[in-house]
Amino acid sequence: MNFHVLTLFPEMIEYGLNTSITGRAIEKGQINLNTVNIRDFSENKHLKVDDYPYGGGAGMVMQAPPIYGAYKSIIEMINIDNSDKKYTKTDQRPRVIYLTPQGEVFHQKKAEEFSKEEDLIFLCGHYEGIDERVLEMIVTDNISIGDYVLTGGELPAMVLMDAISRLVPGVLNNDVSAEFESFQDNLLEYPQYTRPEEFMGKKVPEVLLSGHHGNIEKWRREQSILRTAERRPDLLEKAEMSDKEKDWIKS
Ligand code: ADE
Repeated sequence: MNFHVLTLFPEMIEYGLNTSITGRAIEKGQINLNTVNIRDFSENKHLKVDDYPYGGGAGMVMQAPPIYGAYKSIIEMINIDNSDKKYTKTDQRPRVIYLTPQGEVFHQKKAEEFSKEEDLIFLCGHYEGIDERVLEMIVTDNISIGDYVLTGGELPAMVLMDAISRLVPGVLNNDVSAEFESFQDNLLEYPQYTRPEEFMGKKVPEVLLSGHHGNIEKWRREQSILRTAERRPDLLEKAEMSDKEKDWIKS
């Protein structure tokens, strides 16, 4: 998986991703991280990359030429040079994800979809936005990480890269752990416990010490369903459950 990031703050992305599990995946070459500083493509002698909005209004707008130049440099690097064409289904070029509160809200299924790509380009905006013309030319996916407004697209890009990385084969030590987790089947994960067996008077549920795998599985399924009903009832509508399991919620 090759992540390319168009940003004014490459050090933020590098610091964030070269840590923990994603850092190890980068070291092992399972993920490549290529940050491109948009400012390096400024056509202005003061390296300016923004200007006042046409029509007036507050704030500054990121200009099209440096962003397009930075984008082209990535396309040339990965040698898929048909970027002058507007995107159509038959075009072969990497997806360009623009992080914006105006995008589709990110979810696990989207992470799975993106994890199948070989190259992903993330475009991080700042200030009041980006000149619409360059967005029309290069962006294939508008993605939001939730209904709130951040100061820039770097944190959302890191959120996506983290969620996508852990789905890349080999990145998690234990492949099974990406399979049985929250949002699998639209259910939240069951609670986990580890040693000590008793902590400040609170004991680990007896069934988990029993060694009876059938009972443990049943208990975990029940906990998943009850937890989802309590915390995320909206998810439960999409979850597949037997009539007996539906009764667990009522009782
Ligand atoms: N940029 C600013 N706010 C954002 C959000 N909520 N999601 C994605 N990108 C953003």
